[in-house]
Amino acid sequence: MSKKKILITGGAGFIGSHVVRLFVNKYPETEIFNLDALTYAGNLTSLEDIADKPNYHFVKGDIVDSAFINALFEEHKFDGVIHLAAESHVDRSITDPMAFVQTNVIGTVNLLNAAKAVWKDEMDKHLFYHVSTDEVYGSLDDGGFFLETTSYDPQSPYSASKASSDHFVRAYRNTYGMRTVISNCSNNYGPNQFPEKLIPLCLNNIKHKKPLPVYGKGENVRDWLYVVDHARAIDQIYHEGRDGETYNIGGFNEWKNIDIVRLLCKVMDRKLGRAEGESEKLITFVTDRAGHDLRYAIDASKINQELGWEPSVTFEQGLEKTVDWYLENEAWLENVTSGEYTKYYEKQYVTA
Ligand code: NAD
Ligand code: DAU
Repeated sequence: MSKKKILITGGAGFIGSHVVRLFVNKYPETEIFNLDALTYAGNLTSLEDIADKPNYHFVKGDIVDSAFINALFEEHKFDGVIHLAAESHVDRSITDPMAFVQTNVIGTVNLLNAAKAVWKDEMDKHLFYHVSTDEVYGSLDDGGFFLETTSYDPQSPYSASKASSDHFVRAYRNTYGMRTVISNCSNNYGPNQFPEKLIPLCLNNIKHKKPLPVYGKGENVRDWLYVVDHARAIDQIYHEGRDGETYNIGGFNEWKNIDIVRLLCKVMDRKLGRAEGESEKLITFVTDRAGHDLRYAIDASKINQELGWEPSVTFEQGLEKTVDWYLENEAWLENVTSGEYTKYYEKQYVTA
C-alpha cells in the first residue's frame, strides 16, 4: 500500500515549522510535504534538524499561483491538507491589505479548488484543515470569552482576510461535500517567531539595548499560548476532530501588553546579568496601531472536553524556553534581522 501524503502549507513559518517537525517525527510512515513560498517570514533554517528525514519533502511555491497548485495536487493526490500559509502580521495588513487578500483569500480558494478537483469522487476520504485565528471574532471589552459560536466581527485587514478564508472553507463543505475542520487560536509565542511580533521584537531590542515600542498605553490584552502546544492541538484536531467543526485553541492566559514587556525585561535582565530594572528603561510608548483590538480571550473548553487537549507548559516555563532559545540562537536571529527587516523596522518604527 502506498504511504499517506499530507500537505502542510506555510511550513517554513513560525507555527508551520513546529507543525512540520511534529508530524515528520511522530508519523515516519507518512510523507509530509511542506509547501512554502519563502516570503520574508519563511525560513528553512528553522527546519534544519529534520531536513534529511526520508518522509520530509520541501516544495517551494506560491499558493496564489493556481496552475502550479493544481499541478502539485494532480501529481501527489494528497490525502489531507493542513493549511497555515498566510500573511500573518496585522501591522503589515494596515499598510498593504492587498497582499493579504492575495495570499489569505485567493491562495486559500486556490487550494480548495485544487483539492476539490482531485478529491471529487472520494471527498469522504480526505480532509482540508484550515488554521485560522481568534482575531476573526473581533475585539472584546473587559468581560467574556470567544466561543466557537461567537459571530465573526473582524476589525483589521488581516482578520478580515482570515475571516473570508474561513467562510470559503465552510462554503466548500456545504456546497461540494468536502470534509473540513477549522481551528481558531490565540497569540502564539516560542522559538522561531519572526521579530516583527511583540515578544521576539522586544527580546531582540532588549538584547541590543534598543527602545521597546509599546503601542498606545500598553493596555491591550492578548491570550498567549506556547507554539508547541498549538502544534499538539493541530495534530489532535487533524486526527480526531469532527468533520465540519470549529475548535478554539488558547491557554486561558491573558496579559496586558505592558505587563508582558515588563516581564520580558525582568527575565532578560536576569539572564544577561544586568541590574534589575535596567531594561525597563527602554520601554517607549509610541503611536497606537490603527483600529487596535482591545482584548482577545479564547474559551478553549470544547477542545479540552472533546479531545482532552490542554497546554503542556505553564506560561512561565514557555517563556523561559523561549528566552533561552533566542539567546542561544543568535545566528538565526541575525540572519532574519539583516536586510529586509532593517527597512521594515525603519518604516514601521523610525520614520512613522
Ligand atoms: P508566519 O508569518 O510566521 O509564516 C507564514 C508562512 O507562510 C511563511 O513561511 C511564508 O513564507 C508562507 N507564505 C506566505 N505567503 C505564502 C504564499 N503566497 N504561498 C506559500 N507560502 C506563503 O505565520 P505564523 O505566525 O506561523 O502563522 C501561521 C498561520 O497560523 C497563519 O495562517 C496565521 O493566520 C495563523 N495563526 C497565527 C497565530 C500567531 O500568533 N502567530 C495565531 C493564530 C493563528
Ligand atoms: O491572536 C492571534 C494573532 O496574534 C494572530 O492571528 C496573528 O497572526 C499574530 O500576529 C498575533 O496578532 P497580534 O496583532 O495580537 O500580535 P503582535 O505580536 O503584532 O502584537 C501583540 C500586541 O502587542 C498587540 O496588542 C499589539 C502590541 N504591539 C505589537 C508590536 C509589534 C506593541 O505594543 N508594539 C509592537 O511593536
